Amino acid sequence: MKKTETFFTKDSDALIKAFNADITVHSPGRINFIGGHTDYNDGLVLPTAIDQKIHLYFKKSNNPDICTINSIGFDNTLKINLNHIQKSEHQWENYILGVIHGLQQYSSAISGFDCIIDSQLPIGSGISSSAALECGMAYGLNQLFNLGVSTLDMIQLSRDAEHHFVGTKCGIMDQFAVMISKKNHVVLLDCESVTYSLIPMNLKPYKLLLLNTNVSHNLASSEYNTRRTECETAVQFIQQHYPAVTSLRKVDNNMLNTLQASMDPILFKRSHFIVNENLRVLQAADFLQKHQLHEFGKLMYESHKGLQNQYQVSCKELDFLIEFAKQNDQILGARMMGGGFGGCTINIIHQDIIDNYISQVSQAYLEKFSFELSANIIEPDEGTTLKSAI
Ligand code: GLA
Repeated sequence: MKKTETFFTKDSDALIKAFNADITVHSPGRINFIGGHTDYNDGLVLPTAIDQKIHLYFKKSNNPDICTINSIGFDNTLKINLNHIQKSEHQWENYILGVIHGLQQYSSAISGFDCIIDSQLPIGSGISSSAALECGMAYGLNQLFNLGVSTLDMIQLSRDAEHHFVGTKCGIMDQFAVMISKKNHVVLLDCESVTYSLIPMNLKPYKLLLLNTNVSHNLASSEYNTRRTECETAVQFIQQHYPAVTSLRKVDNNMLNTLQASMDPILFKRSHFIVNENLRVLQAADFLQKHQLHEFGKLMYESHKGLQNQYQVSCKELDFLIEFAKQNDQILGARMMGGGFGGCTINIIHQDIIDNYISQVSQAYLEKFSFELSANIIEPDEGTTLKSAI
């Protein structure tokens, strides 16, 4: 287990001013209310972008082949030769290299540029600093060089960067939410058809609280890919009995009940979770539209329970925070987010108790684990945009 670090933290104002960017891009982190691990199973998710962002400053350089990218908090400079894009041993660089490689498949118009990256997003905390970086990079270069790449293509090539350069076989939710979201809305995304609708979000008198466990267990990336393989294996098994099944999206509880006795118990648990998580997303979207927030919150708790016991991607720190939340009836719902094994919980909490609750839960967490959590109130916000567009 390692403690998570904040991506880029130093005071960067002077550096950015002196840089004199041609364009500035704001690229947000994302939350996901419900629909854990459903995206790579062609399922449904309910995410949105948040008002915490990575800021990317771009300008064209005089050298047509060379790009210089400075990440303020990492105190690190990445120099790229556009004629030789290949994987780096530094993981954060692979997000950028993968996106540039992806854009080059669409257009040869990218030439040398300089970029400064300044982030408010903690790494490994389940709010997708990686998608924010990928999409910010894709969006910025598309604008700077007028590449004409569509939003959907930018989303897909950012996701592919993660598959091929970073090595995480993620779904499309993060990149989609980071790019498409609108202020005060959530995105109901169908990852099979890649179609979506925007649902207005009015939580008053409740607010959204992120509690960051400040841990990122080493299992996170290997277990993520393992879950994906388990789901694929489950589909192959189910297919032998129901040939029309091409993904867990096409499976229902009747099929699973019929197959349970003959199915590997682990694969059954994983499939059962995904099938019912998709149902919860639809119910949750409906409750949200009717402002039935208590019912909405209950589904979040159920989602967490499934992620903990059936999908087995939680950890003791996350579970502690969820159990603590459940004891407070002013918290309507809470669950872990993202790949799992650390990162944040999302909590729907009454505005009047926030300060008190944060001090109670922080103290309890410190006593239990001997290190601190971090707390942030966030709001649904715009997807990746140019500075002038805000
Ligand atoms: C990570 C991945 C997403 C999604 C979530 C789990 O954030 O990048 O594609 O699978 O985990 O819901």
